[in-house]
Amino acid sequence: MKSRILRALSHTEGYVSGQELCEELEVSRTAVWKVINQLKEEGYEIESVPRKGYRILKRPDTITAEEVGSRIETKWAGKTIYSLETVDSTNNEASRLAENGAAEGTLVLAEEQGKGKGRRGRSWVTPAGSAVAMSLVVRPQIPPSRASMMTLVMGLAVAYGCRDCCGVETGIKWPNDIVVDGKKICGILTEMSSEIDYIKYLVIGAGINTNIESFPPELQQKAVSLHQITGSRPDRAALIAACMKRFEEFYEAFLETQDFSLLRKPYNDLLIGIGSKVRVLEPGNEYDGISEGIDEMGELLVRREDGTLEKVYAGEVSVRGIYGYV
Ligand code: BTN
Repeated sequence: MKSRILRALSHTEGYVSGQELCEELEVSRTAVWKVINQLKEEGYEIESVPRKGYRILKRPDTITAEEVGSRIETKWAGKTIYSLETVDSTNNEASRLAENGAAEGTLVLAEEQGKGKGRRGRSWVTPAGSAVAMSLVVRPQIPPSRASMMTLVMGLAVAYGCRDCCGVETGIKWPNDIVVDGKKICGILTEMSSEIDYIKYLVIGAGINTNIESFPPELQQKAVSLHQITGSRPDRAALIAACMKRFEEFYEAFLETQDFSLLRKPYNDLLIGIGSKVRVLEPGNEYDGISEGIDEMGELLVRREDGTLEKVYAGEVSVRGIYGYV
């Protein structure tokens, strides 16, 4: 009920009368009043004016299930939300929930991760209250070999989400980093539980640097936050909702063809380094070439100096621009 009251207050300009809330939610005035008081205790500033009703003046910077839930405008992505103060890793928590049958679109959020995971066994730091750590459960009926494309779908969703919500234009460093001015603003880690020919579930985790004011010296040239770019504190709940809306749109487009035919253009439009020199780091095989963007399977096309075209599969390798991080 808290989420529905928040939603009603969030989606109305001006006041919402107690009577309207009671009728819409089919609850008593006392029940509404109790929830309003709970919200005030949680940091919402809510004005109540006799004969007019309630109006939110200020929201706390939280990513609780209620706060994010009140902003979600999707059919299924992020419709069920688990929000935690602290967790080992939102990907781990989402996997645990998925093992117990969590539905497609279940979203796990945390203010802080004790053991946040990056790609290739690296760790990922989520400082309390200053970032977004979110993990989404999906159960696509596609061959496991295509699962890595889900990382690209989330990358596209986060890039569009940053634009929709914060007006920040980002680029994508294939396959899974969202960057601004050559510095990383978001990383994505997709994990899979599967049988040989069948995906049980995927967990797609995204860590977005939102409110971080400064990074440790070793990261200053590599990482940036939305706050550093815009000079203001992004509304994390609105950003998560914007990413979920885009994810749903792009995921459904992906499922139509089970590949990137429909998403290739928007992805390549944001891809950094098309036409530039890249270095492909494959285990036991390192080579340079010119990036020609992704194909319909989400593979990066790299033209070698001898003219041959390599298709680089997202799961196995990493790609570096010759100069610097991007
Ligand atoms: C990377 O760039 O190496 C990927 C980083 C992915 C971090 C996110 S934060 C939310 C989710 N939970 C995790 O433990 N990792 C991902």
